[in-house]
Amino acid sequence: MAALISLLAICITATLQFVFPFVESNNGCVTADLIHRDSPLSPLYSPSETNSERFHKAYLRSISRLNNHFNPKAASPEALQAPMVSSGGEYFVNISIGTPRVELIGIADTASDLTWIQCKPCYKCYKQNPPIFDPKESSTSKNITCQSESCLRLEKDRRCDTSRNTCQFYYSYADGSYTTGNVGTEVFVISSKTNPDQGTFPNIVYGCGNNNTGTFDE
Ligand SMILES: *[C@@H]1O[C@H](CO)[C@@H](O)[C@H](O)[C@H]1NC(C)=O
Ligand SMILES: *[C@@H]1O[C@H](CO)[C@@H](O)[C@H](O)[C@H]1NC(C)=O
Ligand SMILES: *[C@@H]1O[C@H](CO)[C@@H](O)[C@H](O)[C@H]1NC(C)=O
Repeated sequence: MAALISLLAICITATLQFVFPFVESNNGCVTADLIHRDSPLSPLYSPSETNSERFHKAYLRSISRLNNHFNPKAASPEALQAPMVSSGGEYFVNISIGTPRVELIGIADTASDLTWIQCKPCYKCYKQNPPIFDPKESSTSKNITCQSESCLRLEKDRRCDTSRNTCQFYYSYADGSYTTGNVGTEVFVISSKTNPDQGTFPNIVYGCGNNNTGTFDE
């Protein structure tokens, strides 16, 4: 069991670009406690699972990542339900977002190009444990325009709400599920137990998903 509780403090100067590829200002070196998905601290932890079941699932996720990497079209639908958990998420990080800060658990994901969360107003949302983020309650929440560089970088995944000139994102997955909403900027804090406020990033571009279908939580 001890081996599964992987609380790694890592220096993520470079890695942060993967976790938050849209970081617009980088404060330098930050440490975060990574929570392994099978650790008792993880929201996915299932006490009834045996270590060999966990190992087998980890093996299947690796295979599906490998397939995904070399042959994206052959990836199984489960493999593509990555953004909130599933195969994209071996590790989680505690993050908080907004002003005042709201705590969330994010995935240390090296594959997705936009960090997104479920947001109010929620037309369609899947069940999640922390309360759903409400950008209206946060004084640092901003939308970005359709012409902004960050919006253009989303390429085919972007939409434009022309009536308000607000950038939107639209991600769909092989199983037909999708997530869509406004793209905005917000303050993100990557918290670690030793240094709770060390990693504060004032202008993270993120997707604020109002319509999220599928089973990202399981
Ligand atoms: C993550 O946050 C939760 C809830 O605040 C806390 O119980 C847990 O200890 C934190 N984990 C780490 C690794 O900081
Ligand atoms: C962002 O745009 C949405 C509508 O697309 C609007 O409801 C919301 O108030 C805007 N947020 C801010 C911070 O301007
Ligand atoms: C989300 O769904 C609602 C209701 O179906 C719809 O009115 C709204 O335009 C959708 N929002 C986005 C960003 O697709």
